[in-house]
Amino acid sequence: MTYPIPIPRERDRRPRLLDLFSCAGGAGMGYHQAGFDVTGVDIHPQPNYPFTHHVADAIAYLHAHGREYDAVHASPPCQHYSPLNAYNHKTYPDLIAPVRDALNAIGLPYVIENVETAAPELRQPALLCGPMFGLRVYRHRLFETNWSLTAPAHPGHTATCVRNGYLPTPDRPFMTITGGRHSRAWQNTACDAMGMPWIKVPPGGDIPRGIREVCEAIPPAYTHWIGTHLHAHIATSVEAAA
Ligand SMILES: C[S@@+](CC[C@H](N)C(=O)[O-])C[C@H]1O[C@@H](n2cnc3c(N)ncnc32)[C@H](O)[C@@H]1O
Repeated sequence: MTYPIPIPRERDRRPRLLDLFSCAGGAGMGYHQAGFDVTGVDIHPQPNYPFTHHVADAIAYLHAHGREYDAVHASPPCQHYSPLNAYNHKTYPDLIAPVRDALNAIGLPYVIENVETAAPELRQPALLCGPMFGLRVYRHRLFETNWSLTAPAHPGHTATCVRNGYLPTPDRPFMTITGGRHSRAWQNTACDAMGMPWIKVPPGGDIPRGIREVCEAIPPAYTHWIGTHLHAHIATSVEAAA
């Protein structure tokens, strides 16, 4: 597939990736490691985001600035797709379809990420899982793309997960990383398991919001894999357009 915008515009620069719904940059870091120049956008300030960052509504920013980039990643909040909503009677915005519409209007290669319970909303998503990348978390996430993405082979789930909030043990070496009032030791261990050292608690210090950030994140290894293939896809599109 080729795209209406000639990308990259200067052939010797790093391609630019727009990281929508960025939080503290779990996804963004993987794209950076894959060779992208990453810019994040989130509705809330993200002081721990490691790259250029803008505070804005994701769809509004995409409409206003999307064409300044070569590719877009979007991680709309997943709460709308949680089965727990049937019990807690809360309502959350359903952003996957509006985000897809905005991405199609821009016409760049895109990635839309979400949780497994959002599968009915996503078009032929690839599933990624921690052991595909040597991680000690299962953390299934789905990735819809408008270009061809294949997941690595999916290893069996043979290791046991420790309960959320507890540190791993030799018998239960995998972590479950979801919200809660967890210890600093747990936060740092979770950051190691996810590959997010920049939001670890420094000795004697604190990282505000770090627990929420690690619990919301995609492991950078997932987007490193995606970004490596996206980079190749963009290079092929540029060659085809030349
Ligand atoms: C699941 S987190 C994204 C995690 C991120 N991809 C990562 O790997 O670290 C979703 C984020 O969307 C942000 N958000 C919610 N509504 C938004 C909106 N309308 N525009 C931009 N960001 C929004 C939240 O503040 C939150 O940080």
